[in-house]
Amino acid sequence: MTLITCIEDLRLLAKRRVPRMFYDYADSGSWTESTYRANEEDFGKLKFRQRVAVDMNNRSLRSTMAGQEVSMPVAIAPTGLTGMQHADGEILAARAAEKFGIPFTLSTMSICSIEDVAAHTSKPFWFQLYVMKDRDFIERLIERARAARCSALVLTLDLQVLGQRHKDLRNGLSAPPRLTLANLLNMASKPRWCLGMLGTRRRSFGNIVGHAKSVSDMSSLSSWTSQQFDPGLSWNDVEWIKQRWGGKLIIKGIMDAEDARLAANSGADALIVSNHGGRQLDGAPSSIAALPGIVEAAGKDIEIHMDGGVRSGQDVLRAVALGARGVYIGRPFLYGLGALGEAGVTRCLEIIRNELDITMAFCGKRDIQHVSREILLP
Ligand code: FNR
Repeated sequence: MTLITCIEDLRLLAKRRVPRMFYDYADSGSWTESTYRANEEDFGKLKFRQRVAVDMNNRSLRSTMAGQEVSMPVAIAPTGLTGMQHADGEILAARAAEKFGIPFTLSTMSICSIEDVAAHTSKPFWFQLYVMKDRDFIERLIERARAARCSALVLTLDLQVLGQRHKDLRNGLSAPPRLTLANLLNMASKPRWCLGMLGTRRRSFGNIVGHAKSVSDMSSLSSWTSQQFDPGLSWNDVEWIKQRWGGKLIIKGIMDAEDARLAANSGADALIVSNHGGRQLDGAPSSIAALPGIVEAAGKDIEIHMDGGVRSGQDVLRAVALGARGVYIGRPFLYGLGALGEAGVTRCLEIIRNELDITMAFCGKRDIQHVSREILLP
């Protein structure tokens, strides 16, 4: 088996194994991709203080995120079409997260449905909600998440309109993929992926098809999203959703101090500093650059999480040092899934945990709960 030592190894293997349309969907950002690149690059600008001769026995990465115990402060981010990176992808990733003791977040735009994932896991997972125009459908999704015993609702606020991703348009992204000659030739060169897909019946949007009134044609994902998602979404809708859900609520997509204060006032349990992995507003700062300002503005009133560009345990530690209670990983787990299925997601999590543990020790800390800004150079 190929030796996998870091997230980049998983990315390269996934690139070989996943059809171009779906690999590109994961590995791209909007327009010039400047925010997508900055998310990763800005982490590298934060330098650690190396400490020595400090007792490093009995280290602990245990923490909580939105009140849930986690074996390390990392959760799996919601990502659409995950079941196209690998057959039954959401189920496999949820299982890997469950075994690892970290939260898995299922996207509204998943291939495996809420019920599919619930039937194949034993611990509660989190559900991510997009606000669509059809409010009856939103209510039904909330009901389904409740019935599946989801333990938190992650409400994404940064996709009222869709950022253009050039590659998705060029590739004619759809699920299931349209059987054009180019797609067929490309898929034929990915035999493992094809075999997996032949062995599952889950090849389209599990939460949407057959449920939302207005769904007729999802052949073009970008035009479908712009028809269905609600550009009129406001903080009143957040209140409406909070009331209907009644459980833990995490608001995703906050990049501005003023919005962070509004999120804190909304009574949500946590907010995620996120620019959607550089897939929405190109030209926005990186999430790690935005984090300190948001912690300062609202960190006393609401738990702060972040995502975007986390590619190592070092990055997790940097985010925690700057005040994030936990981080989410999107592409790293997708690369793991595309490369090696469930084993690849597990490998991704092992890599991040080991890097986090050892880097924390280098910085002279034994407990992730005691990590603060002092581990970074000013
Ligand atoms: C996403 N993201 C996302 N977010 C969300 O709330 N609902 C969704 O359905 C999706 N779909 C999605 C698909 C793909 C392929 C990617 C890469 C991302 C954004 C995601 O939750 C998260 O914010 C970013 O992925 C974090 O950045 P990294 O870790 O990918 O750099």
